[in-house]
Amino acid sequence: MRILQVCAEIFPLLKTGGLADVAGALPSALQDLGGDVRVLLPGFAPILEGLEDASLVAELVPPGALGTAPARLLHGRLGACNTEAYVIDAPGHYRRPGGPYADGTHQPYPDNHLRFALLGWTAAQLAMGLDPRWVPELVHAHDWHAALAPAYLRAAALTHQGPLPASVFTVHNLAYQGLFDGRHFAELGLPDHFFAMHGVEFHGQLNFMKAGLYYADRITTVSPRYALEIQEPEQGCGLDGLLRDRAHQLFGILNGVDEAVWNPATDALLSATYSAAQLAGKARCKAALQRELGLRKAGRAPLFCVVSRLTEQKGLHLVLKALPALIEQGAQFALLGSGDAGLEAAFAEAAHTHPEAVAVRLGYDEPFAHRLIAGSDVIMVPSHFEPCGLTQLYGLKYGTLPLVRRVGGLADTVADTRLETLDHDATGFVFDAFSADGLLQAAARALALYRRKADWTLVQRRAMALPCGWDVPAAHYLALYRRLVT
Ligand code: ADP
Ligand code: GLC
Repeated sequence: MRILQVCAEIFPLLKTGGLADVAGALPSALQDLGGDVRVLLPGFAPILEGLEDASLVAELVPPGALGTAPARLLHGRLGACNTEAYVIDAPGHYRRPGGPYADGTHQPYPDNHLRFALLGWTAAQLAMGLDPRWVPELVHAHDWHAALAPAYLRAAALTHQGPLPASVFTVHNLAYQGLFDGRHFAELGLPDHFFAMHGVEFHGQLNFMKAGLYYADRITTVSPRYALEIQEPEQGCGLDGLLRDRAHQLFGILNGVDEAVWNPATDALLSATYSAAQLAGKARCKAALQRELGLRKAGRAPLFCVVSRLTEQKGLHLVLKALPALIEQGAQFALLGSGDAGLEAAFAEAAHTHPEAVAVRLGYDEPFAHRLIAGSDVIMVPSHFEPCGLTQLYGLKYGTLPLVRRVGGLADTVADTRLETLDHDATGFVFDAFSADGLLQAAARALALYRRKADWTLVQRRAMALPCGWDVPAAHYLALYRRLVT
């Protein structure tokens, strides 16, 4: 089956969050199951630089204001991602200093609606045969950046002769919807009647996410629990009604771990490798990490870590509140993160106050994320909401027990440690109340288990042995595609 994946970022070339990890791993996993997969991406500089053997597919002639900047479609191979790809080379839209979505001062680009409508529009062109040598049978769009693909496909169906591919839309995070002033709708070249409650209009605004949810043949999200949560007002971000209407076409498929990247037995970024059977290397990773961070070298002090975007979603103010009590109980803490200026300052201050027990590294650092996760004992993900979450999965894989809030994909992937679960399925520590107290109660269980070495190792080995590769999720996606492509 010919499958076109449409997304805005892809590991290892361009990454702002877990979306890139998924986009980087899913194509290979689908190929391993026999899928014929290509990815469509905007031509951001790192993506164009990663495109090998590039050839011109077509000059693009987009409608309306989408066509203001010259654009052409290239085909080639993204060797680093082990996939074939189409890349939209439109320097006016995509080659800018700053990030893919916002400038250096974190201001979203004012023409984001055009930049990402072009992505969705180009997907629909490929679906209509823009590259006659490879016409997709299924288009799979990810998050709001790609969410107009199903809308343009639906618009194409109004005039196109012959069959068009089915579409799947995956919600990675409903909180980021791609909302724009309604007057921009006229610039997109979509039929007028699409700007309606049954369409892309959302309280007078233009909503990209809603387009994906409304027009895609099937909707998925990245955990079964989040698939339920987003049908309720609390987490539905105003779109829960539409999601309830489409409940029978909405599926939760858990993300996996790219074991070529995240595997403690082969991870070249670590000072020592290790496995569930041979845990000695993990102690060496911890000692090296404590040295690197200037923490007191104390093997017996449990080391808690966080690797995260610093945003409201992640619940990190709970960690800040709980930190003094954690340290008092002999724990150490290390954080790698960037984002919200207030949180950055507060964590930096905590490190300044407790230099022997707290270390904070602000910024984005992929190799350090590996060293930090490998060298820590516990990874904390106390999110307010979490569609799937990947760092707790990396924690499981690295024997770094996750301490998480019972929400979204965190609830689906971590089993709490209690007396009755210890010999059964315990893999981490789970709390309910979104409060520092809730977190501290789970931390107390972590500290108690840590003092019982044999039990700790038992849970660690169980966590490390959990199957969490991309083979299972990829098989679920393929089964879903097959039901749509007859
Ligand atoms: P989200 O996509 O909401 O940020 P996920 O847990 O799904 O959350 O994915 C986050 C990804 O980004 C993980 O691969 C994590 O290791 C990585 N990450 C987050 N912050 C940093 C950072 N400061 N440096 C390096 N990697 C980071
Ligand atoms: C989003 C979510 C995160 C998820 C990731 C990949 O960024 O916040 O929970 O793991 O997408 O699907």
